[in-house]
Amino acid sequence: MTQATTETVIFAPQPGPQEAFMASTADIAILGGSAGGGKTFAVLLWLAALSSIKDFCAVVFRRVAPDLTGGGSIWEESQEIFRAMGGQPRQSPNLDWRFPSGALVEFRHLQHASDVYSHQGKQYATVVFEELPQFEESQFWYLVSRLRTKSRVRAHLRATCNPDPDSFVRALIDWWIDPDGFPIRERSGLLRWFVRDPRGELHWFDTREAAVADFPKSKPLSLTFIPATLSDNPKGDPTYRERLEALPLVERARLLGGNWNIRKTAGTVLRREWFQIVDSPPGQVLRSVRGWDKGATVGGDWTRGAKWCALSHGYYLADMASVRGTPGEVFAKMRACAEQDGLTTRVAIWQDPGQAGIVDVDTTREQIKGYALDVHKAASSKVSYAEQWGVIAEKGSKGEGPPVYIQRAAWNEAFLAEVDAFPGGKHDDQVDAVSCAHQSIKVTSGGVYVPPKGHTPPARPWSGLG
Ligand SMILES: Nc1ncnc2c1ncn2[C@@H]1O[C@H](COP(=O)(O)OP(=O)(O)O)[C@@H](O)[C@H]1O
Ligand SMILES: [Mg+2]
Repeated sequence: MTQATTETVIFAPQPGPQEAFMASTADIAILGGSAGGGKTFAVLLWLAALSSIKDFCAVVFRRVAPDLTGGGSIWEESQEIFRAMGGQPRQSPNLDWRFPSGALVEFRHLQHASDVYSHQGKQYATVVFEELPQFEESQFWYLVSRLRTKSRVRAHLRATCNPDPDSFVRALIDWWIDPDGFPIRERSGLLRWFVRDPRGELHWFDTREAAVADFPKSKPLSLTFIPATLSDNPKGDPTYRERLEALPLVERARLLGGNWNIRKTAGTVLRREWFQIVDSPPGQVLRSVRGWDKGATVGGDWTRGAKWCALSHGYYLADMASVRGTPGEVFAKMRACAEQDGLTTRVAIWQDPGQAGIVDVDTTREQIKGYALDVHKAASSKVSYAEQWGVIAEKGSKGEGPPVYIQRAAWNEAFLAEVDAFPGGKHDDQVDAVSCAHQSIKVTSGGVYVPPKGHTPPARPWSGLG
């Protein structure tokens, strides 16, 4: 006879931010801070706790539909908890959970500012914004103005967020944040009351009475902010910290450090002290790429060609070529560099959008015929490309990873000055040239070297890394 085993899974908030969130009586409670701090889980616990109330109706918003479902999404994370509460999921035509009490939890997206109006007549007791900074401020305030219900729960709003200094949420929670951008621990979960005057301006008060005294006919609402960090969530994935540690400085400071002020400004993407000047490459060169960033010929901008190498341990900026002139002169320089660098060095360029970019790629291909050419279409901002090698340099300078070296040469100072000013400086062509080369190093990492026609390939120049 086999013995049946029954396993009871008990879902409970963890001590700290999750408990504070569950206990909050605020009309609006915002749970924010580090990624992986247990914010989404806390919201699901909140909804689960209310799901036994007859006629309870809630909505969970994400800004865009694809973020609602899929790996790590709130819909996926809801499966275990809501099923344990007897909930029945429905995926079509919409994402909903129906509970034995009759309670309903809808999952919706609000992509366009005006999408809020389709929720006009709804009587939600709980409105959840998952990743609040991604929404329009007007969407948030519209739903605040619609908080009402016929269920026995007083209507309220709950939100999760990761720090974003440029979102409206930063100003909304300013009282809970110190001048350096970090949450003030002692203020976590404390309520403040606000009134929006007819012009839409916010007035803040320490108590409800103070608000009513100043605005006698108003209905003040309470708001609180509760910061959560990764260490507040011991039940989370233990490898999560490692993944956050590997992020570029700004993302790391936001998603791991919980900083609400840091932006991608000079000194946060690249810094001169992250680079080590050397007289020769300290290690075997495994791959090298000459990446070009072309200046507009009209403005007389510099065209720069960075020779960027992957070493057995580290990266090495071997040379920075500069040329200013007619397209013919620029191509002559590119050709000269290719000849000097040799066949084991690939050539890389950025492809500008549009027809001009296509023509330039064709001409470049013709002009440096015989050398391996990589073409990179910029899919995100130049800052995010620079962060990819900036984080390597930063970690290397702290002994946490392979170092980034630069060859001692006359161009060093101009390069390092540009690095220090990036992305706020007047020029970013040298940085962009390295970023372009770095794309090739990434792409060919572990890839296959295809020799140009008519040439014998050198002995395994592209192997050994990654
Ligand atoms: N109270 C809890 N009980 C059990 N597991 C939890 C709890 N809180 C968080 N977790 C675990 O931690 C993981 C990360 O939490 P999550 O809420 O997704 O973080 P965040 O939304 O802050 O990025 C969850 O997927 C879950 O596995
Ligand atoms: Mg989350």
